Amino acid sequence: MEEKVDISVEFAGLKLANPVFTASGTCGYADEMADFMDLNSLGGFITKSITARPRKGNPDPRIVETDSGMLNAIGLANIGLEKFIEEKLPILEKFKSVIFVNIAGQTIEEYIAVAERLSKEKAIAGFELNISCPNVKKGGITFGTEPEQVEQITRAVKAVSADKILMVKLTPSVTDISEIAQAAVKAGADALSLINTFTAMVIDIETQRPVLANRTGGLSGPAIKPIAVYLVNKVYNEVAKEAKVPLLGMGGIRTAVDALEFIIAGATAVAVGTWNFVEPDSCKKIIEGIKQYCIDKKISKISELTGTLKS
Ligand SMILES: Cc1cc2nc3c(=O)[nH]c(=O)nc-3n(C[C@H](O)[C@H](O)[C@H](O)COP(=O)(O)O)c2cc1C
Repeated sequence: MEEKVDISVEFAGLKLANPVFTASGTCGYADEMADFMDLNSLGGFITKSITARPRKGNPDPRIVETDSGMLNAIGLANIGLEKFIEEKLPILEKFKSVIFVNIAGQTIEEYIAVAERLSKEKAIAGFELNISCPNVKKGGITFGTEPEQVEQITRAVKAVSADKILMVKLTPSVTDISEIAQAAVKAGADALSLINTFTAMVIDIETQRPVLANRTGGLSGPAIKPIAVYLVNKVYNEVAKEAKVPLLGMGGIRTAVDALEFIIAGATAVAVGTWNFVEPDSCKKIIEGIKQYCIDKKISKISELTGTLKS
């Protein structure tokens, strides 16, 4: 007899079948991964970042493996808003999983334009704002490192997409991540996702040059997991718990054990990124592992586990 456990979660008013998402940029627009993973079994799917116009991204090499992780400097390569709506949305619409579109831009106006246009699309449940992008109007300062800019961009996007769930994705490359989280919540973010990658570098000692053409890239994978768990717990304790804003935790998740750490730290749901490249069925195994943990620990609802870290 199958034991009854409820691994569905409520996430900013959305009902998810389970708390497992794929992280932005690691499963394209879904069709690329459809042969390798059961997209209908996911709690949620997040597209790679979409910008107003198509982008070629950075020159090669733009990926390098590191100890327990990888660096990427893809540079937001994507097909652009119009092609996404024409070619990819009809495919995404067919999936049962909740769909979030990740939005990026170089000016606040670009974020607003993309959000406004996509807010008309019923298949999209919400947006994830990638604010780890340099603001060209402000001399290249990353949006997500300045509380005032985070507030401004969150408020502006929310104003043109009130019907959609707005999740703001936090960069760990800041002095105090809670200050940024607070700015997003104050401006109307319905959820927060964390963390994006850490800026990092790998050097080829023969050429004495950086391996990536872009010099630096974002570090992801198991190497960053303990830092990500710590930051999720910090934002949960200092901002999200009181504000009742759900957290989507990510950074180095490979297994159900990793996912459960994030949930205990304060995440309502989790996302798997880099590990999809290593084990395309890892999300499925993680969902099964979470269910088994609930059975073993006699937890009737997974949501009861969020933020239960003991001192
Ligand atoms: C190849 C690659 C591409 C990514 N592209 C995006 C992107 O387009 N937008 C974004 O917000 N995050 C992007 N990310 C960051 C991930 O969504 C995630 O925040 C980060 O990798 C940490 O999770 P992980 O360690 O499980 O990969 C990318 C990560 C990787 C590895």
